[in-house]
Amino acid sequence: MARPTHIIPSILAADYTRLGDEVISVDVAGADRFHLDVMDGHVVKNLSFGPDLIRAIRPLTHKPFEVHLMATPALDWIEPLRQAGSDRILLHLGQDFDTKSTLQAILAAGMKAGIVLAPDEPAQSVLPLLDLIDFINVLTVIPGFGGQPFMTGMMPKVSELRALIAERPIDLAVDGGVNLSTVPIAAQAGANVFIAGTGIYSVGATRYAETLKNMRILADANRPTGV
Ligand code: DX5
Ligand code: ZN
Repeated sequence: MARPTHIIPSILAADYTRLGDEVISVDVAGADRFHLDVMDGHVVKNLSFGPDLIRAIRPLTHKPFEVHLMATPALDWIEPLRQAGSDRILLHLGQDFDTKSTLQAILAAGMKAGIVLAPDEPAQSVLPLLDLIDFINVLTVIPGFGGQPFMTGMMPKVSELRALIAERPIDLAVDGGVNLSTVPIAAQAGANVFIAGTGIYSVGATRYAETLKNMRILADANRPTGV
């Protein structure tokens, strides 16, 4: 059965001086859930926010929170992120910890688990993990910063992953440089989840609803039938 189309704002690109309003505005505008990029300056060369901020915005929406974890040691962040209100944690592959047991720890804590493939990580690396995850996030930029251009060169990997996922209940996302121009490209390749920071927040609050709606229309119009 076809996986639903999901449009997910990344608050990394929100106006931090009005963060609460920015969360509420995209919720009302039709966001399916929220993408939270937690960076500690070691996994990527940037710092963002952690459990305290997630806890602060948790009461503002009923939609799920999904943490894209770029902080180490990953195992130590699972419980604080759960307590702060996270519903799913996405782990980067290729780090210095055992991915399988860390995914199992996320599941044991009562959250959902997913993985993130950086641009140099091949599609095949997901194979041993498919029974533990319900989400694969293909990075379409170098991780760490919003506002970078979308890497169309990742689209063959998206298509390969779509074939590997087959009938499994796993969502396939693109993350980075996703906007009204690039949603169709990713949808054609096989993505059903579209994570966008700048592509949503840069249009201004009066146009969030229109932008989310148009992203969804473009995704649905371009997704191959039956995937
Ligand atoms: C980059 C993050 C993205 C980021 C995307 O490391 O994974 O989630 O927020 O930002 P945009 O949509 O601005 O490229
Ligand atoms: Zn992200």
